[in-house]
Amino acid sequence: MVTPYKHEPFTDFTIEDNRKALEAELKKAEENFGKEYPLIIGGERITTEEKIVSYNPANKSEVIGYVSKANQDLAEKAMKVADETFEWWRKTNPEMRADILFRAAAIVRRRKHEFTAHLVKEGGKPWKEADADTAEAIDFMEYYGRQMLDMKNGVEVNSREVENNRLHYIPLGVGITISPWNFLFAIMAGTTVAPMVAGNTVLLKPASTTPIIAYKLMEVLEEAGIPAGVVNFVPGSGSEVGDYLVDHPRTRFINFTGSREVGTRIYERAAVVQPGQKWLKRSIIEMGGKDTIIVDDNSDLELAADAITYSAFGFSGQKCSACSRVVAHEEIYDDLLARVVEKTKEVNVQDPTRHDTYMGPVIDEAAYNKILDYIEVGKQEGKLMVGGTGDNSQGWFVHPTVFADLAPDSRIMQEEIFGPVVGFTKAKDFDEAIEIANNTEYGLTGAVITNNREHIEQAREDFHVGNLYFNRGCTAAIVGYHPFGGFNMSGTDSKAGGPDYLSHLMQPKTTSEML
Ligand code: NAD
Ligand code: ALA
Repeated sequence: MVTPYKHEPFTDFTIEDNRKALEAELKKAEENFGKEYPLIIGGERITTEEKIVSYNPANKSEVIGYVSKANQDLAEKAMKVADETFEWWRKTNPEMRADILFRAAAIVRRRKHEFTAHLVKEGGKPWKEADADTAEAIDFMEYYGRQMLDMKNGVEVNSREVENNRLHYIPLGVGITISPWNFLFAIMAGTTVAPMVAGNTVLLKPASTTPIIAYKLMEVLEEAGIPAGVVNFVPGSGSEVGDYLVDHPRTRFINFTGSREVGTRIYERAAVVQPGQKWLKRSIIEMGGKDTIIVDDNSDLELAADAITYSAFGFSGQKCSACSRVVAHEEIYDDLLARVVEKTKEVNVQDPTRHDTYMGPVIDEAAYNKILDYIEVGKQEGKLMVGGTGDNSQGWFVHPTVFADLAPDSRIMQEEIFGPVVGFTKAKDFDEAIEIANNTEYGLTGAVITNNREHIEQAREDFHVGNLYFNRGCTAAIVGYHPFGGFNMSGTDSKAGGPDYLSHLMQPKTTSEML
């Protein structure tokens, strides 16, 4: 018997011992800077000439490491290995597969601060955010391991006197995991280990800005006893290796998390049946968000301002769940805006290696430029209240930015910026607030701050997002507690960390035996 699932506790960095432990790991992480990391295909380490360079976004001169880069030949080799491995891996005992995850979770837990320190450096995450990312990676392993144990005997169906009927789940085949850089550990790990524990084999293509954490996951899985060839590490360019693997006729499913632009491209390509392909590829495509916090007239404005500030600027707004729009009732609009502006001025923006950093950098130059371009758009469309500047002298820092008086259909209120920028608009009543909240093509997260019970129930029905929160911010879902995934252009309705997640990675088979 395994113990019941409980989420991993977050580290309290006000405790000196915890602070010292992370500081020591940050120093050790620096000692590893500049190392080289190979591909891993069928357990074999393969070094290529061409490399992906991983930089510290807070300090452009720091190279975290050099990662070998797969090309199409190596992607093909990895596909062959994964395909062959699937033939026996699919028949392995689900308990053994779950045990690998429980062991992997224990390994990460024992070395928690080492991983967290790495996330501070490679992802530019402040301590609290990095610690939460490590905790979530552990949670995914513990949670999906248990889910596999729950599903291993299938589900009950009716039998009759003359026949014995069963429904059980079998794995799909070779899957491609394509992960984003923002939850560089948690999402990358979750979308890799879930298909693995379900009996599939996996080709892991991590984001090119954060590939080293994926190599570290490979090492953990190996230490936990995963056989060679089950998960293969094939970092590479999205357009070269990504397209090649998405198009491949032996790809059985794609587990993608990333932008709407890339997600829709993959969805389209995956729909094309290639010569020799015997199935329709399953596509789990989780994409961006344009997430709204509604603040009602009858509400706690201090709570609202805290929720907005944290949801908008935590990890520099680089969460698919980040609050990038506020719809406030006209009665409290000015008061709320003033409080958020005050709190935004208190947000410190600095190197995340320091323990008191609230906001670190954005991930790279492209993100920096994109966000500053949007800030220029915001100046045309609304009123800049605070922020609006960047500092790229050392790393990619953008100051937290608030725009007021935006039209609901303005670009700032419609397009995913993926940075520390939040826009405010006014609603005359709650009906209008819901209407505005729903007027984007996304539908990922949202929150309502209100003391009005009727409005809570109305939002539960009508606010069309996959994750809706009341009287709190709209980020920070916890595995097993807040199953995560969005509607409309935010995704294909899977729920990461939800009770039916593994069913997306398997197929149900009915057997019926005449007695
Ligand atoms: P991205 O779409 O640029 O990249 C995601 C992954 O796709 C990377 O590994 C990238 O290398 C790969 N890729 C790029 N082109 C490809 C191609 N042609 N074929 C195959 N793979 C390709 O996204 P990102 O910048 O890494 O992440 C940020 C985005 O992810 C944001 O839009 C954010 O909202 C979204 N996101 C969504 C969720 C969710 O659960 N819905 C969670 C986290 C992030
Ligand atoms: N799961 C992450 C959150 O809820 C994206 O913020």
